Amino acid sequence: MDIRLSGITKVFEPDIVALEDIYLSVDSGEFLYLVGTTGSGKTTLLRLISREYLPTRGQITVGDRNLRKLRSSELPYYRREVGVVFQDFKLLPNLTVFENVAFVLEAMGIPPKLVESRSNEVIDQVGLWRRRFLKPPQLSGGEQQRVAIARAMANSPAVFLADEPTGNLDLRTSEEIMRLLLSINASGTTVIVATHDQYLVDAYRQRLVELHNGRLKRDERRGRYFVDGEL
Ligand SMILES: Nc1ncnc2c1ncn2[C@@H]1O[C@H](COP(=O)(O)OP(=O)(O)O)[C@@H](O)[C@H]1O
Ligand SMILES: [Mg+2]
Repeated sequence: MDIRLSGITKVFEPDIVALEDIYLSVDSGEFLYLVGTTGSGKTTLLRLISREYLPTRGQITVGDRNLRKLRSSELPYYRREVGVVFQDFKLLPNLTVFENVAFVLEAMGIPPKLVESRSNEVIDQVGLWRRRFLKPPQLSGGEQQRVAIARAMANSPAVFLADEPTGNLDLRTSEEIMRLLLSINASGTTVIVATHDQYLVDAYRQRLVELHNGRLKRDERRGRYFVDGEL
């Protein structure tokens, strides 16, 4: 699905302007990095697209939905089409990898047989097949992140949002996560990744949008983390 932001401003009461007058178009099937220093508005932008927040001003459309006009009865259906991996991803510590993924699909009312086959499929895709009966505390940080990704991709979302998915991970693990995100994108899903990870951004060049103090500072087709000469 395509994503269009038109004149988006988000003010947190009383007076924190997190985003100001953002225009951004992301086509269906695109991959986009969202970069910018801490506090520049990356997470806020993702949470507007996932419709956790409503904008203070401006319009957001995702596919044929205007998020401002989305009724609360339509919200669960919208959320099923948007996979999110936020930094504070919460895996249920007492459930196995399999159960953590299956739980989400069950909650959507998917029939049990389908829940089992789809859960197994995505767990295999993220490379955790042999760990499917372990619980989160028995997994490494990178493995836990992959469970969160499996969970978010289980319902084959048309849009996938990841907020600093490689934060706190070593280089090799980060590359695995990155390749996973690219494979999700290769299946036609629109992917937006908020990141600080200069290495990944420069190693896997993609469209790059930079925020600075809540404003869109740069939008480049195959951007580098730093502008040439900026160092
Ligand atoms: N729920 C909130 N309530 C109040 N202020 C917020 C909230 N979320 C974010 N902010 C503020 O909005 C600005 C942008 O934050 P954020 O989107 O989290 O930036 P980033 O993800 O780029 O670090 C910051 O000044 C932050 O303090
Ligand atoms: Mg953030």
